[in-house]
Amino acid sequence: MLKNIGEYRTYFDILKAEKKKIGFVPTMGALHEGHLSLVYSSKANDDITISSIFVNPTQFNDPSDYRGYPRDLDRDIEILKSAGCDALFAPSESEMYPEKGSVAELYWTGNIREVNLAPLDSVMEGKYRPGHFDGVTTIVQKLFYAIKPDTAYFGDKDYQQLAIIRRMTDELDLSIDIVGCPIIRESDGLALSSRNALLSKDQRAVSCIIYNTLKSAQAQVHTKDVQELSAWIAEEINAEPLCEVQYVEISDPDSLAPVLKWEPNKKTICCVAVFMDSVRLIDNVSLFP
Ligand code: PAF
Repeated sequence: MLKNIGEYRTYFDILKAEKKKIGFVPTMGALHEGHLSLVYSSKANDDITISSIFVNPTQFNDPSDYRGYPRDLDRDIEILKSAGCDALFAPSESEMYPEKGSVAELYWTGNIREVNLAPLDSVMEGKYRPGHFDGVTTIVQKLFYAIKPDTAYFGDKDYQQLAIIRRMTDELDLSIDIVGCPIIRESDGLALSSRNALLSKDQRAVSCIIYNTLKSAQAQVHTKDVQELSAWIAEEINAEPLCEVQYVEISDPDSLAPVLKWEPNKKTICCVAVFMDSVRLIDNVSLFP
């Protein structure tokens, strides 16, 4: 396990001297099969797979969500080892966010650039979690800067995050290939997420309503217009007393702009956020008119 950038740089120099292609899987830990699918994709494409675990405080707009985020580093290390991940970068908070005014802080301020994410960051998660994507782009830039990967892997479950990271990588000309990997689901359809561990038994039992509803929405694009379908999805999920829909957005898959009308053969993405008490789950499916 590499705990700081200095330790990593020594390892990196050896890898680069050997002309190794580096794949990177950034995570916040509490690993599950979804994360492992990213590790396996990297192992299939790259010479070396490096993962990171860092629960990034700046992307949590709700302090209790940050405090309650599941953490189990020892378990995660075992999981990464058995998946064949080559190295883990697990920095401390002071490594990634040094004290203001310190020399270490200057290192970051000199290297981290602001990115104009508009309008990608003003819809969906951006609308309901102010500052979230500033936190994500800051930490992902720092991690990219530290690890210097050739390729980085992100899950399609955080669809908007993936779109934003692609935009940031393009705008900053970072020469990192960003690979999106399919959502991995439980057998009843619930999208894997570290937050699933926070669901009670009763919540977990009914949480599959989210994906079941999205799946049945896919079959209704020819019988409902966009507004009817998104209202139907919200009603259907809200009919389950343990669920409370925060948003349903049917959007252009690239610009994330809301779609007002189906266009034949033009794929759209339907993203939802649902509260189950204080646990917030997100999911998405493609809709093909
Ligand atoms: O998707 C996540 O786990 C996080 O947002 C990421 C990309 C590791 C940044 O903290």
